[in-house]
Amino acid sequence: MTSNANTERLLDRIRTRQARIGVIGLGYVGLPLAVEFARQGFDVSGFDVDEFKTGEINAGRSYIPDVSPAELSEVVQAGRLRGTTQMADLAGMDVIDICVPTPLRKTKDPDLSYVVRAVEAVAATLKKGQLVILESTTYPGTTDEVVQPMLESRGFRADVDFFLAFSPERVDPGNQKFNTRNIPKVVGGVGSASTEAAALLYGSTVDTVVQVSSTRVAEMVKLLENTFRAVNIGMVNELALMCHKMDIDVWEVIDAAKTKPFGFMPFYPGPGLGGHCIPIDPFYLSWKARQSGFECRFIELAGHVNGAMPDYVVQLISEALNSVRKSVRGSRVHLFGMAYKPNVGDVRESPALDILELLTRHGAAVSYTDPYVASLAHGAETLRSVPADQALAESADCYVVCTNHDAFDYDAIVKGAGLIVDTRNALKKHTSPSIFRL
Ligand SMILES: NC(=O)c1ccc[n+]([C@@H]2O[C@H](COP(=O)([O-])OP(=O)(O)OC[C@H]3O[C@@H](n4cnc5c(N)ncnc54)[C@H](O)[C@@H]3O)[C@@H](O)[C@H]2O)c1
Repeated sequence: MTSNANTERLLDRIRTRQARIGVIGLGYVGLPLAVEFARQGFDVSGFDVDEFKTGEINAGRSYIPDVSPAELSEVVQAGRLRGTTQMADLAGMDVIDICVPTPLRKTKDPDLSYVVRAVEAVAATLKKGQLVILESTTYPGTTDEVVQPMLESRGFRADVDFFLAFSPERVDPGNQKFNTRNIPKVVGGVGSASTEAAALLYGSTVDTVVQVSSTRVAEMVKLLENTFRAVNIGMVNELALMCHKMDIDVWEVIDAAKTKPFGFMPFYPGPGLGGHCIPIDPFYLSWKARQSGFECRFIELAGHVNGAMPDYVVQLISEALNSVRKSVRGSRVHLFGMAYKPNVGDVRESPALDILELLTRHGAAVSYTDPYVASLAHGAETLRSVPADQALAESADCYVVCTNHDAFDYDAIVKGAGLIVDTRNALKKHTSPSIFRL
């Protein structure tokens, strides 16, 4: 088949919804995407190394809060979505979307091992005319420097025999307004045929597709977005520490500043960064920039300020306890919220885990309530979420709001707790000398 014929056949199969789509990695990103493709009429296979996940999908049970069980079972029962651990089945796909994790190593260097393993599986069965898209967040150059050579080692040429693009995932778990469908999708291919094919694919599923000139631009877009958040959160966290010293209420300052209708966007201080994106992605960029002899000072500084916030919260807890002549050592401290952000159960990189760890190291006995996190591994122990009313009845020495879940009854917390440290301004309606705010 000529390269033109490869392109036309793929475009035609996408247009007519005959294209078979494989999504590798069925987590927070991959599962919603797979369900959305299936809802649009495509035949979708979800590939994961985790048998539990593929089993749950085949049973029509969702383990991702953003995917409703009804939506999932509808497409599974209609035979348009199935989960599998059989990577050899990738051979039968027209499109392969890679959504595997991209964590950091302990040294804060990128860990591309999941991407490499997934691409090895794709390369093993690569066929002419397949479109491969990387969605995992990564440094600029990953697609053309790492993925492309691995796939071309099969003797095929990218953008001619097969198609290759990068399209960053922008999903915001728990966001009620923006979802896979209405978040614009940025797409950049290794050549124009790849960009065109990937744009056509996403155009069938999301409302707006934004084409860019290369995979590197598409990779950098995502890192700009997340670095923008990390740096601004770092700036406002520093402002919070400054305001504390100057006896100014940082929350009141932000609320008033955000009345400016242009040129200002509010960011809020908190106990530190969490989740799989903001604390990690900027370090992918600074690592790559360092390879080109460039030091990203903003990223390093923001990482430093944000990374120190859990220590600052522990300092506040210590000040609060001190005000009633108690020390952290020997006190019972109860945390409200372990997830990294409100209304989700994701504890990856959550600053509440650091606070738990620091308090334990300082000799406090720590318990927690989180309606989304039933249990937590903590050293050799497993901690279990204590119902809020029970936690308040047990009169801990200090209560800490780490995550402002909507499900918490803040009036009851204020009424039932003696000392409270509020890291999220969740108790803004309440004034009391026993509330210590960030
Ligand atoms: N979670 C978010 O909010 C979010 C938002 C935007 C971008 N991202 C990016 O998307 C990517 C995926 O993140 P996530 O949150 O969905 O991760 P996740 O951990 O929830 O899911 C990843 C899945 O990939 C599977 N997996 C790992 N290696 C595999 C392999 N070789 N073959 C098949 N499956 C494999 C894992 O078992 C897991 O189910 C990351 O690069 C992340 O930075 C995440």
